[in-house]
Amino acid sequence: MSAEPRAQLSEHAREEINLWIGKFPGGRQRSAVIAALHIVQHENKGFLTPELMDAVASHLELPRIQVYEVASFYSMFELQPVGRNSVSVCTNVSCMLRGSGRILDHIAKQYGIKEGESTEDGRIFLKKEEECLGACTGAPMMMVNHRYYEHLTPEKVDEILGGLE
Ligand code: FES
Repeated sequence: MSAEPRAQLSEHAREEINLWIGKFPGGRQRSAVIAALHIVQHENKGFLTPELMDAVASHLELPRIQVYEVASFYSMFELQPVGRNSVSVCTNVSCMLRGSGRILDHIAKQYGIKEGESTEDGRIFLKKEEECLGACTGAPMMMVNHRYYEHLTPEKVDEILGGLE
């Protein structure tokens, strides 16, 4: 079992996580780890801290390592502070053949960020290389805050990213 965590989960986060725990058989709260990390990351402006991961482990009554290994394995979890809007440009085969490289070059030139970096104003976070997001027929595509945008051109990218707060 984990020791007393240094951060506390908000009441809202605990309630949401408890809903997820309730979806699984008793004693299988480990199945709620991904959902719990999503909830906590969302509340913490898009990234996780060791203290928050410890708090999740404590709430789920799991060893810390079982939370850390999930958070560090999946690309949807960030372990460092990032810009408030998460942008993922798919670079897998279909998108690559349809010009994802040109889209990334454009973002680098226009916003001064490469994959894994955030703009200085904290507005945009360009995630590291993303594998196929399952929208190959709309290649090249990107995901912005969990929403898909397809058939991208540099102009379309500017329109979408320019509209973010
Ligand atoms: S290759 Fe980009 S969505 Fe499938």
